[in-house]
Amino acid sequence: MNDPASRDPASRVRIFDTSLRDGEQSPGCSMTPAQKLRFAHALSELGVDVIEAGFPASSETDMGAVRAIAREVRGATVATLARCHEGDIEACARALDGAVHPRIHVFISTSPLHREHKLGLSREQVLERAVMGVELARRHADDVEFSAEDALRTEPEFLAQICSAAVAAGARTLNIPDTVGYTTPSEIRSLFEYLRANVVGAGQAVFSAHCHNDLGLAVANSLAAIEGGARQVECTINGIGERAGNCALEELVMALRVRGEYYGAHTRIDSRRLVPTSRLLSRITGMAVQRNKAVVGQNAFAHESGIHQHGMLKHRGTYEIMRPEDVGWAQSQMVMGRHSGRAALSDRLQTLGFALDEAQLNSVFAGFKALAEKKREVFDADLEALVLGADKRA
Ligand code: KIV
Ligand code: ZN
Repeated sequence: MNDPASRDPASRVRIFDTSLRDGEQSPGCSMTPAQKLRFAHALSELGVDVIEAGFPASSETDMGAVRAIAREVRGATVATLARCHEGDIEACARALDGAVHPRIHVFISTSPLHREHKLGLSREQVLERAVMGVELARRHADDVEFSAEDALRTEPEFLAQICSAAVAAGARTLNIPDTVGYTTPSEIRSLFEYLRANVVGAGQAVFSAHCHNDLGLAVANSLAAIEGGARQVECTINGIGERAGNCALEELVMALRVRGEYYGAHTRIDSRRLVPTSRLLSRITGMAVQRNKAVVGQNAFAHESGIHQHGMLKHRGTYEIMRPEDVGWAQSQMVMGRHSGRAALSDRLQTLGFALDEAQLNSVFAGFKALAEKKREVFDADLEALVLGADKRA
């Protein structure tokens, strides 16, 4: 499974990153065109297949940012978003001028709630607009993606009908967004299975999942969609995005890496670039990553409890399911605190260059425990002071 040459191409999951569109449009995440361009280069180095660079019709600033990305970023398909409106689609075509692999991504709401309250359109009118949007986009680009917004709250037979019409009109990616993070893993898996069996021309299109995180299920739902046959997943670095965010790219990619055999799927992401890319995004947006965030959070490979530290010193597999180096951290971290034990203290003191006998270690350990009761974390400098202080007293 880890040998790229032996992998079945059908098991490849394309990573469509929308940090610069769905992510960037969320509170606290807006970026200047120069920052977007810089981040697009980082995404290309990470190995994403598609970079959704923006929504050109939304502003002149976005138009400028997408144009620069389309001209400069070479390693990935550059996608732009449009409603099924002539003006939006033409703005995408202008913005993508110069891109090596341009994609126009058109969307329209399909659920009864959105049809009635947001669009004021009947099913037939939505279907007609979707076909018009895909056909118009195809006049400007060979690579067209169609999204049925709020798909998970849409009648499945209407969803299959509109997806069939989109394929007939020339769409080659069918994106099924869980726009409001409403679905569950078993439900989305069944929906993908249903669509693959019922969309006319399904074999000509790649099915794509786009999950939001309102119930904290975006990654689980995206993985379930893969089980149901999705071969593109739309996600963002650090899971940024509308409300509670989108599927977190780093979590999805590492789930497929660690449990690749279970899912029978893989990506072409260079996982060692996950932490640097996450940090770059935090610096650009000023939005911190929570400490206990999977993969890229500061605690993701940190161990404080004595039992865990003791286990880790014997075999790292006791409490780690992936190697920190494989996601871009330098190493695991043994945090010295109130919960730490003698084994970890002794190991850290050796790393700091001290060779203590049993009695010296006992005395430093007693001092360490007393200090750890007062301080949340005991740093290397504190340990050095403890050892040197014990030396002087002896
Ligand atoms: O969440 C959503 O439905 C979207 C679409 C525009 C793809 O972001
Ligand atoms: Zn979205």
